[in-house]
Amino acid sequence: MEDTKLDLRAKEILRTNDRGGYTVPTAGLYPYQWNWDSAFVALGFAAFDIDRAWTEVGSLLAGQWPDGMVPHIIFQRVDDSYFPGPDQWGTTTSPPTSGITQPPVAATIVRRLHDLEPAKGRRRAEAALVALDRWHEWFATARDPAGRGLVAIIHPWESGRDNLPDWDRPLSFVDTSKVGAYERRDTQHVAADQRPHQHEYDRYLALVAFGRDNHWDPAAIAAGSPFWVADVGVNAILLRAERDLAALAGALGDSDIADRATRRAERLQDGLASLWSDAAGGYVSLDLRREEHATTLSAGAFLPLYAGGVPADRAERLIPTLRHWLDAVRYGVPSFDPTDPQFDPIRYWRGPIWAVVNWMIAEGLAGAGHADLADRIRVDTRALIRQSGFYESFSPIDGRGCGGKDFSWTAAIWLAMTAPAPVAAVA
Ligand code: GLC
Repeated sequence: MEDTKLDLRAKEILRTNDRGGYTVPTAGLYPYQWNWDSAFVALGFAAFDIDRAWTEVGSLLAGQWPDGMVPHIIFQRVDDSYFPGPDQWGTTTSPPTSGITQPPVAATIVRRLHDLEPAKGRRRAEAALVALDRWHEWFATARDPAGRGLVAIIHPWESGRDNLPDWDRPLSFVDTSKVGAYERRDTQHVAADQRPHQHEYDRYLALVAFGRDNHWDPAAIAAGSPFWVADVGVNAILLRAERDLAALAGALGDSDIADRATRRAERLQDGLASLWSDAAGGYVSLDLRREEHATTLSAGAFLPLYAGGVPADRAERLIPTLRHWLDAVRYGVPSFDPTDPQFDPIRYWRGPIWAVVNWMIAEGLAGAGHADLADRIRVDTRALIRQSGFYESFSPIDGRGCGGKDFSWTAAIWLAMTAPAPVAAVA
């Protein structure tokens, strides 16, 4: 298909997946509003309908909990095609939500929306600013009670990179003996060899039950969650988001929020440095219960470049690694090290490419002075979509589309990578 037709198709996908003020990732497989999907969807809408982009941000932040958390799923309308649904999470909000969060990319996107049309977006940017500051503050307290500059995730789904090999070992300590019988819905939509294994799903559900039994109380979860891991992706994305929040607050004249975000960013910058592993040769996740770094690299290893502030000697190790990865596959960037034996080109987050991760990596590379590599990744992303369509993910080996089709955030990234965007500097 020609690019102009793909532009139209991308817009059509966003319109079709629009359920009235919020957008589902794809019909069937993911029939609700997902957190970081909505943020990227807003970026896509911004290419042709800035009002609709702000509406998406508004509906996402309307799901914010009283304690500041912005949930990973908002169950806007009951739909039995997805499991685990509202009753499994046992939360008390209306509409119901899941009990966990997702990568906080929203502040970065909100800053973009504001910068596109500052006067027009001012009122909505001010409202979003307050909600985002509360969400980031929640991360700093609920998920970093010890103040070490690393926020924990309590479930692999909070990483947004659900099935990474990084989670295998921390998950191995999760007791599944109380998980009763249940019926998966994901494998009714997508081939099982592209989805997590049953033993992983059992652990996912055991962690949901843990949170539910503890009424999603942050203190109880911090004290006892069997899964308590500093994901390099979430920490890098939050650091970038804090920097963008500080810049947005500055532009809107809110010095209190600007100061708070800057302080939180400084702490995260120190924490992120501690995710560097010489043994793995990059930034990795850290199991905070056992003080164990992951031993393999994922695409998350490159996200500190997106966060900004990576020391030169570390960047000098990351860039050749990325080039090496790109030499090993036809398309980049694989979600997991393509030279590692655990690499699987089509199974969820163990190899396939996600357009949103490519967008962040390309932003980071461009900001760090590697425009050539950033371009290569954008070119690959567009080539994948041209070849296979707007799939959820793609095989780095042959470019085939995996997972759900007509996927909102893939359409959004197509539009974001083709539309001119304001340059947002990070430190
Ligand atoms: C999967 C992905 C997650 C995403 C969701 C909806 O669960 O792992 O990152 O938000 O699908 O697209």
